[in-house]
Amino acid sequence: MDKPKIILGIETSCDETAAAVARKDNDGVIILSNIVASSALLQAKYGGVVPEQAAREQLSNIIPVIQEALSQAFPDYQPTATNPPPIDAIAVTQGPGLIGSLLVGVETAKILSLVWEKPLVPVNHLVGHFYANWIKEPSASPSFPAIGLLVSGGHTDLVLMKGHGKFEYLGGTRDDAAGEAFDKTARLLGLPYPGGPVISKLAEKGDPGAFKLPRPMIDSKDSDFSFSGLKTAVSNIVHSSQFPPKARLAVGSTVHGKNRKPTNDLCASVEEAIVDVLATKTLRAARIHNVGQIVVAGGVAANKKLAEIFLNRAGKEISRAKISIPPPKLCTDNAAYIAAAAFFNYHPINPLELQADPSLSLSHSA
Ligand code: KG4
Ligand code: ZN
Repeated sequence: MDKPKIILGIETSCDETAAAVARKDNDGVIILSNIVASSALLQAKYGGVVPEQAAREQLSNIIPVIQEALSQAFPDYQPTATNPPPIDAIAVTQGPGLIGSLLVGVETAKILSLVWEKPLVPVNHLVGHFYANWIKEPSASPSFPAIGLLVSGGHTDLVLMKGHGKFEYLGGTRDDAAGEAFDKTARLLGLPYPGGPVISKLAEKGDPGAFKLPRPMIDSKDSDFSFSGLKTAVSNIVHSSQFPPKARLAVGSTVHGKNRKPTNDLCASVEEAIVDVLATKTLRAARIHNVGQIVVAGGVAANKKLAEIFLNRAGKEISRAKISIPPPKLCTDNAAYIAAAAFFNYHPINPLELQADPSLSLSHSA
Protein backbone atom coordinates (compact mmCIF):
# COMPACT_ATOMS: atom_id res chain seq x y z
CA MET A 1 0.00 0.00 0.00
CA ASP A 2 1.50 3.36 -1.08
CA LYS A 3 1.95 5.84 1.73
CA PRO A 4 -0.32 8.86 1.22
CA LYS A 5 1.34 12.28 0.82
CA ILE A 6 -1.78 14.47 0.83
CA ILE A 7 -4.97 13.81 2.84
CA LEU A 8 -8.31 15.61 3.00
CA GLY A 9 -9.58 15.49 6.61
CA ILE A 10 -13.25 15.89 7.60
CA GLU A 11 -14.48 16.44 11.17
CA THR A 12 -18.11 16.86 12.26
CA SER A 13 -18.33 15.28 15.71
CA CYS A 14 -20.09 18.13 17.53
CA ASP A 15 -20.81 21.78 16.67
CA GLU A 16 -17.83 22.42 14.37
CA THR A 17 -17.90 21.55 10.66
CA ALA A 18 -14.28 21.22 9.62
CA ALA A 19 -12.27 20.24 6.57
CA ALA A 20 -8.52 20.46 6.05
CA VAL A 21 -5.91 19.42 3.55
CA ALA A 22 -2.56 18.30 4.97
CA ARG A 23 0.71 17.08 3.46
CA LYS A 24 3.27 14.84 5.16
CA ASP A 25 6.99 15.02 4.62
CA ASN A 26 9.82 13.25 6.42
CA ASP A 27 9.60 15.13 9.68
CA GLY A 28 6.00 16.07 10.11
CA VAL A 29 2.64 17.17 8.82
CA ILE A 30 2.11 20.53 7.10
CA ILE A 31 -1.30 22.17 6.82
CA LEU A 32 -2.28 23.32 3.31
CA SER A 33 -5.73 24.52 4.42
CA ASN A 34 -7.76 24.28 7.63
CA ILE A 35 -11.38 25.49 7.54
CA VAL A 36 -13.69 25.46 10.58
CA ALA A 37 -17.30 26.66 10.59
CA SER A 38 -18.64 26.69 14.12
CA SER A 39 -22.23 26.87 15.24
CA ALA A 40 -21.00 27.65 18.81
CA LEU A 41 -22.42 31.19 18.66
CA LEU A 42 -25.82 29.78 17.80
CA GLN A 43 -25.48 27.10 20.50
CA ALA A 44 -24.48 29.83 22.99
CA LYS A 45 -28.05 31.13 22.87
CA TYR A 46 -29.15 27.86 24.50
CA GLY A 47 -26.22 27.69 26.95
CA GLY A 48 -24.84 24.54 25.33
CA VAL A 49 -25.06 22.31 22.28
CA VAL A 50 -28.54 21.28 21.10
CA PRO A 51 -27.83 18.10 19.11
CA GLU A 52 -30.57 18.51 16.45
CA GLN A 53 -29.57 22.12 15.86
CA ALA A 54 -25.88 21.15 15.58
CA ALA A 55 -26.73 18.41 13.04
CA ARG A 56 -28.77 20.84 10.90
CA GLU A 57 -25.87 23.30 10.89
CA GLN A 58 -23.47 20.51 9.90
CA LEU A 59 -25.68 19.69 6.94
CA SER A 60 -25.73 23.24 5.60
CA ASN A 61 -21.99 23.81 6.18
CA ILE A 62 -20.34 20.57 5.08
CA ILE A 63 -20.13 21.10 1.30
CA PRO A 64 -19.03 24.79 1.40
CA VAL A 65 -16.44 23.96 4.08
CA ILE A 66 -14.94 21.09 2.03
CA GLN A 67 -14.99 23.25 -1.13
CA GLU A 68 -13.18 26.06 0.69
CA ALA A 69 -10.55 23.69 2.11
CA LEU A 70 -9.88 22.28 -1.38
CA SER A 71 -9.80 25.64 -3.11
CA GLN A 72 -7.37 27.11 -0.54
CA ALA A 73 -5.09 24.09 -0.84
CA PHE A 74 -5.35 23.86 -4.64
CA PRO A 75 -6.30 27.28 -6.09
CA ASP A 76 -6.51 25.94 -9.69
CA TYR A 77 -8.73 22.98 -8.85
CA GLN A 78 -12.37 22.96 -10.04
CA PRO A 79 -14.39 20.50 -7.90
CA THR A 80 -16.70 18.12 -9.79
CA ALA A 81 -17.62 14.47 -9.38
CA THR A 82 -15.50 13.51 -12.40
CA ASN A 83 -12.52 15.70 -11.47
CA PRO A 84 -11.06 14.44 -8.18
CA PRO A 85 -8.78 16.79 -6.25
CA PRO A 86 -5.04 15.95 -6.08
CA ILE A 87 -5.33 14.11 -2.76
CA ASP A 88 -4.24 10.55 -1.94
CA ALA A 89 -6.92 9.74 0.66
CA ILE A 90 -9.84 11.04 2.72
CA ALA A 91 -9.85 10.80 6.54
CA VAL A 92 -13.03 11.27 8.54
CA THR A 93 -14.03 11.31 12.21
CA GLN A 94 -15.96 8.09 12.88
CA GLY A 95 -16.74 8.93 16.53
CA PRO A 96 -17.26 9.59 19.37
CA GLY A 97 -19.64 12.51 19.22
CA LEU A 98 -23.24 13.41 18.48
CA ILE A 99 -24.77 10.87 16.11
CA GLY A 100 -26.58 13.46 13.93
CA SER A 101 -23.40 15.50 13.52
CA LEU A 102 -21.14 12.48 12.93
CA LEU A 103 -23.43 11.08 10.23
CA VAL A 104 -23.07 14.24 8.13
CA GLY A 105 -19.27 13.93 7.95
CA VAL A 106 -19.16 10.16 7.64
CA GLU A 107 -21.77 9.90 4.87
CA THR A 108 -20.22 12.80 2.93
CA ALA A 109 -16.76 11.23 3.19
CA LYS A 110 -18.10 7.84 2.02
CA ILE A 111 -19.69 9.38 -1.07
CA LEU A 112 -16.59 11.42 -1.94
CA SER A 113 -14.40 8.35 -1.46
CA LEU A 114 -16.58 6.36 -3.86
CA VAL A 115 -17.00 8.99 -6.60
CA TRP A 116 -13.39 10.19 -6.50
CA GLU A 117 -12.03 6.65 -5.96
CA LYS A 118 -9.87 7.69 -3.01
CA PRO A 119 -9.11 5.45 0.02
CA LEU A 120 -11.17 6.24 3.11
CA VAL A 121 -9.57 6.24 6.59
CA PRO A 122 -11.77 6.36 9.71
CA VAL A 123 -10.28 8.28 12.64
CA ASN A 124 -11.22 8.17 16.32
CA HIS A 125 -11.81 11.81 17.31
CA LEU A 126 -10.05 11.35 20.67
CA VAL A 127 -6.96 9.81 19.09
CA GLY A 128 -7.12 12.54 16.44
CA HIS A 129 -6.88 15.31 19.05
CA PHE A 130 -3.45 13.98 20.12
CA TYR A 131 -2.16 14.23 16.54
CA ALA A 132 -2.38 18.04 16.64
CA ASN A 133 1.01 17.54 18.33
CA TRP A 134 2.45 15.96 15.17
CA ILE A 135 1.64 18.99 13.00
CA LYS A 136 4.79 21.01 12.31
CA GLU A 137 3.60 24.18 14.02
CA PRO A 138 5.91 25.27 15.50
CA SER A 139 7.92 22.56 17.24
CA ALA A 140 9.23 19.05 16.64
CA SER A 141 7.05 15.95 16.98
CA PRO A 142 6.82 14.24 20.39
CA SER A 143 8.65 10.96 21.00
CA PHE A 144 7.42 7.64 22.43
CA PRO A 145 6.77 6.46 25.07
CA ALA A 146 4.68 9.38 26.23
CA ILE A 147 1.93 10.14 28.72
CA GLY A 148 -1.03 11.65 26.87
CA LEU A 149 -3.59 13.89 28.54
CA LEU A 150 -6.77 14.53 26.57
CA VAL A 151 -8.87 17.38 27.95
CA SER A 152 -11.93 18.36 25.94
CA GLY A 153 -15.59 19.23 26.40
CA GLY A 154 -16.61 15.63 26.92
CA HIS A 155 -13.37 13.86 27.88
CA THR A 156 -10.58 13.89 30.44
CA ASP A 157 -8.38 10.88 29.79
CA LEU A 158 -4.83 9.79 30.57
CA VAL A 159 -3.12 7.31 28.26
CA LEU A 160 0.27 5.69 27.98
CA MET A 161 1.30 6.19 24.35
CA LYS A 162 3.64 3.39 23.32
CA GLY A 163 3.66 4.16 19.60
CA HIS A 164 1.37 5.42 16.85
CA GLY A 165 -2.13 4.11 17.55
CA LYS A 166 -0.81 2.06 20.51
CA PHE A 167 -2.47 3.84 23.39
CA GLU A 168 -3.04 2.14 26.74
CA TYR A 169 -5.87 3.74 28.69
CA LEU A 170 -4.77 4.66 32.23
CA GLY A 171 -7.79 6.47 33.59
CA GLY A 172 -10.29 9.22 33.04
CA THR A 173 -13.04 11.28 34.55
CA ARG A 174 -15.65 9.55 36.64
CA ASP A 175 -18.18 12.34 36.03
CA ASP A 176 -17.72 15.77 34.40
CA ALA A 177 -14.89 16.42 31.94
CA ALA A 178 -12.45 19.31 32.50
CA GLY A 179 -14.00 21.31 29.64
CA GLU A 180 -17.44 20.63 31.07
CA ALA A 181 -16.28 22.05 34.43
CA PHE A 182 -15.31 25.28 32.61
CA ASP A 183 -18.59 25.30 30.66
CA LYS A 184 -20.77 24.65 33.74
CA THR A 185 -18.94 27.31 35.78
CA ALA A 186 -19.55 29.81 32.98
CA ARG A 187 -23.22 28.92 32.96
CA LEU A 188 -23.48 29.43 36.74
CA LEU A 189 -21.86 32.85 36.30
CA GLY A 190 -24.12 33.86 33.40
CA LEU A 191 -21.17 33.77 30.99
CA PRO A 192 -21.50 32.49 27.41
CA TYR A 193 -20.80 29.01 26.02
CA PRO A 194 -18.11 27.72 25.51
CA GLY A 195 -16.94 28.63 29.00
CA GLY A 196 -13.20 27.87 28.77
CA PRO A 197 -12.04 30.85 26.69
CA VAL A 198 -14.13 33.44 28.58
CA ILE A 199 -13.22 32.09 32.03
CA SER A 200 -9.57 32.08 31.09
CA LYS A 201 -9.79 35.71 29.90
CA LEU A 202 -11.52 36.93 33.09
CA ALA A 203 -9.13 34.85 35.22
CA GLU A 204 -6.21 36.97 33.98
CA LYS A 205 -7.55 39.84 36.13
CA GLY A 206 -8.51 37.68 39.12
CA ASP A 207 -6.82 36.30 42.21
CA PRO A 208 -6.57 32.48 42.04
CA GLY A 209 -6.29 32.31 45.84
CA ALA A 210 -9.49 34.29 46.46
CA PHE A 211 -11.81 31.28 46.79
CA LYS A 212 -10.81 27.97 48.37
CA LEU A 213 -11.99 25.27 45.99
CA PRO A 214 -11.65 21.47 46.25
CA ARG A 215 -9.06 19.61 44.15
CA PRO A 216 -11.03 16.37 43.66
CA MET A 217 -9.00 13.13 43.60
CA ILE A 218 -5.70 15.04 43.46
CA ASP A 219 -4.07 12.68 45.98
CA SER A 220 -5.48 9.40 44.67
CA LYS A 221 -2.78 7.18 43.19
CA ASP A 222 -4.95 6.14 40.22
CA SER A 223 -5.27 8.11 36.99
CA ASP A 224 -8.94 8.98 37.46
CA PHE A 225 -10.48 12.44 37.76
CA SER A 226 -13.69 13.91 39.13
CA PHE A 227 -14.86 17.45 38.50
CA SER A 228 -18.52 17.42 39.52
CA GLY A 229 -17.70 18.38 43.14
CA LEU A 230 -15.99 21.49 41.84
CA LYS A 231 -19.16 22.52 40.05
CA THR A 232 -21.13 22.09 43.29
CA ALA A 233 -18.58 24.18 45.21
CA VAL A 234 -18.80 26.95 42.58
CA SER A 235 -22.59 26.82 42.71
CA ASN A 236 -22.52 27.18 46.52
CA ILE A 237 -20.24 30.23 46.26
CA VAL A 238 -22.30 31.88 43.51
CA HIS A 239 -25.47 31.49 45.59
CA SER A 240 -23.85 32.60 48.86
CA SER A 241 -23.62 36.03 50.46
CA GLN A 242 -19.92 36.24 49.44
CA PHE A 243 -21.16 36.93 45.96
CA PRO A 244 -23.22 39.73 44.35
CA PRO A 245 -26.77 38.75 43.27
CA LYS A 246 -26.88 36.57 40.19
CA ALA A 247 -28.67 39.21 38.13
CA ARG A 248 -25.58 41.43 38.27
CA LEU A 249 -23.50 38.68 36.73
CA ALA A 250 -25.09 38.77 33.28
CA VAL A 251 -22.70 39.25 30.38
CA GLY A 252 -22.41 42.94 29.57
CA SER A 253 -23.03 44.03 33.15
CA THR A 254 -20.53 42.23 35.34
CA VAL A 255 -18.00 41.35 32.65
CA HIS A 256 -17.72 44.90 31.41
CA GLY A 257 -19.03 46.69 34.47
CA LYS A 258 -17.84 47.66 37.95
CA ASN A 259 -18.77 44.52 39.87
CA ARG A 260 -16.58 42.11 38.04
CA LYS A 261 -13.98 41.49 40.75
CA PRO A 262 -15.73 38.51 42.41
CA THR A 263 -16.37 36.99 38.99
CA ASN A 264 -12.74 37.44 37.94
CA ASP A 265 -11.55 35.99 41.25
CA LEU A 266 -13.86 32.99 40.98
CA CYS A 267 -12.80 32.38 37.37
CA ALA A 268 -9.12 32.50 38.41
CA SER A 269 -9.77 30.15 41.37
CA VAL A 270 -11.69 27.62 39.24
CA GLU A 271 -9.10 27.71 36.48
CA GLU A 272 -6.29 27.14 38.96
CA ALA A 273 -8.13 24.25 40.66
CA ILE A 274 -8.76 22.48 37.33
CA VAL A 275 -5.25 22.87 35.92
CA ASP A 276 -3.63 21.99 39.25
CA VAL A 277 -5.46 18.63 39.30
CA LEU A 278 -4.68 17.98 35.62
CA ALA A 279 -0.96 18.75 35.99
CA THR A 280 -0.54 16.90 39.29
CA LYS A 281 -2.11 13.69 38.03
CA THR A 282 -0.40 13.77 34.64
CA LEU A 283 3.04 14.36 36.14
CA ARG A 284 2.42 11.58 38.68
CA ALA A 285 1.51 9.17 35.85
CA ALA A 286 4.75 10.18 34.08
CA ARG A 287 6.74 9.38 37.23
CA ILE A 288 4.97 6.04 37.76
CA HIS A 289 5.63 4.96 34.16
CA ASN A 290 9.10 6.55 34.07
CA VAL A 291 8.23 8.62 31.01
CA GLY A 292 9.61 12.10 30.27
CA GLN A 293 7.49 13.02 27.25
CA ILE A 294 4.05 14.50 27.94
CA VAL A 295 1.54 15.16 25.15
CA VAL A 296 -1.47 17.35 25.93
CA ALA A 297 -4.47 17.67 23.60
CA GLY A 298 -8.11 18.80 23.37
CA GLY A 299 -9.87 22.15 23.66
CA VAL A 300 -8.77 22.74 27.28
CA ALA A 301 -5.13 22.43 26.14
CA ALA A 302 -5.67 25.91 24.61
CA ASN A 303 -5.69 27.24 28.18
CA LYS A 304 -2.65 29.47 28.87
CA LYS A 305 -2.56 28.73 32.58
CA LEU A 306 -2.45 25.00 31.87
CA ALA A 307 0.61 25.44 29.65
CA GLU A 308 2.23 27.69 32.25
CA ILE A 309 1.71 25.21 35.12
CA PHE A 310 2.92 22.22 33.06
CA LEU A 311 6.03 24.05 31.88
CA ASN A 312 6.82 25.35 35.40
CA ARG A 313 6.38 22.06 37.18
CA ALA A 314 7.50 19.39 34.70
CA GLY A 315 11.24 20.05 34.98
CA LYS A 316 11.05 19.95 38.79
CA GLU A 317 8.80 16.90 39.13
CA ILE A 318 9.95 14.47 36.41
CA SER A 319 13.26 13.70 34.76
CA ARG A 320 13.88 14.22 31.01
CA ALA A 321 10.75 16.37 30.90
CA LYS A 322 9.43 17.31 27.46
CA ILE A 323 6.00 18.92 27.18
CA SER A 324 4.13 19.07 23.89
CA ILE A 325 1.01 21.26 23.65
CA PRO A 326 -0.38 22.29 20.25
CA PRO A 327 -0.95 25.96 19.37
CA PRO A 328 -4.45 27.00 20.63
CA LYS A 329 -6.11 26.98 17.20
CA LEU A 330 -5.14 23.32 16.74
CA CYS A 331 -6.37 22.31 20.23
CA THR A 332 -10.06 22.94 19.58
CA ASP A 333 -11.94 20.83 17.04
CA ASN A 334 -10.53 20.97 13.51
CA ALA A 335 -9.87 18.55 10.65
CA ALA A 336 -6.11 19.09 10.33
CA TYR A 337 -5.46 16.73 13.23
CA ILE A 338 -7.85 14.18 11.71
CA ALA A 339 -5.74 14.20 8.54
CA ALA A 340 -2.54 14.07 10.65
CA ALA A 341 -3.80 11.03 12.59
CA ALA A 342 -4.58 9.24 9.32
CA PHE A 343 -0.99 9.65 8.04
CA PHE A 344 0.37 7.83 11.10
CA ASN A 345 -2.45 5.27 11.37
CA TYR A 346 -3.16 4.54 7.72
CA HIS A 347 -5.82 1.83 7.70
CA PRO A 348 -8.26 2.47 4.81
CA ILE A 349 -11.56 0.57 4.86
CA ASN A 350 -14.32 -0.21 2.39
CA PRO A 351 -16.45 2.98 2.35
CA LEU A 352 -19.64 0.91 2.27
CA GLU A 353 -18.69 -0.66 5.59
CA LEU A 354 -17.98 2.53 7.53
CA GLN A 355 -20.54 3.41 10.22
CA ALA A 356 -20.52 6.47 12.47
CA ASP A 357 -20.00 5.36 16.07
CA PRO A 358 -21.08 7.90 18.72
CA SER A 359 -19.61 5.89 21.59
CA LEU A 360 -16.16 5.05 20.23
CA SER A 361 -13.63 5.14 23.09
CA LEU A 362 -9.89 5.61 23.43
CA SER A 363 -9.38 1.88 23.78
CA HIS A 364 -10.28 1.52 20.06
CA SER A 365 -7.35 2.16 17.72
CA ALA A 366 -7.08 5.22 15.45
O1 KG4 B 1 -11.82 19.62 21.98
P1 KG4 B 1 -12.94 20.58 21.92
O2 KG4 B 1 -12.85 21.73 20.96
O3 KG4 B 1 -14.28 19.85 21.63
C1 KG4 B 1 -14.58 18.60 22.13
O4 KG4 B 1 -14.18 17.61 21.50
O5 KG4 B 1 -15.20 18.57 23.23
O6 KG4 B 1 -13.12 21.12 23.43
C2 KG4 B 1 -14.08 22.03 23.77
C3 KG4 B 1 -13.88 22.37 25.23
C4 KG4 B 1 -14.98 23.26 25.80
O7 KG4 B 1 -15.41 22.68 27.03
C5 KG4 B 1 -14.30 24.60 26.02
O8 KG4 B 1 -14.85 25.32 27.10
C6 KG4 B 1 -12.88 24.17 26.28
O9 KG4 B 1 -12.65 23.10 25.40
N1 KG4 B 1 -11.90 25.24 26.00
C7 KG4 B 1 -11.12 25.79 26.93
C8 KG4 B 1 -10.37 26.83 26.30
N2 KG4 B 1 -10.73 26.84 24.96
C9 KG4 B 1 -11.67 25.86 24.81
N3 KG4 B 1 -11.00 25.54 28.25
C10 KG4 B 1 -10.13 26.29 28.96
N4 KG4 B 1 -9.40 27.30 28.42
C11 KG4 B 1 -9.48 27.59 27.11
N5 KG4 B 1 -8.74 28.59 26.59
ZN1 ZN C 1 -12.82 17.47 20.27
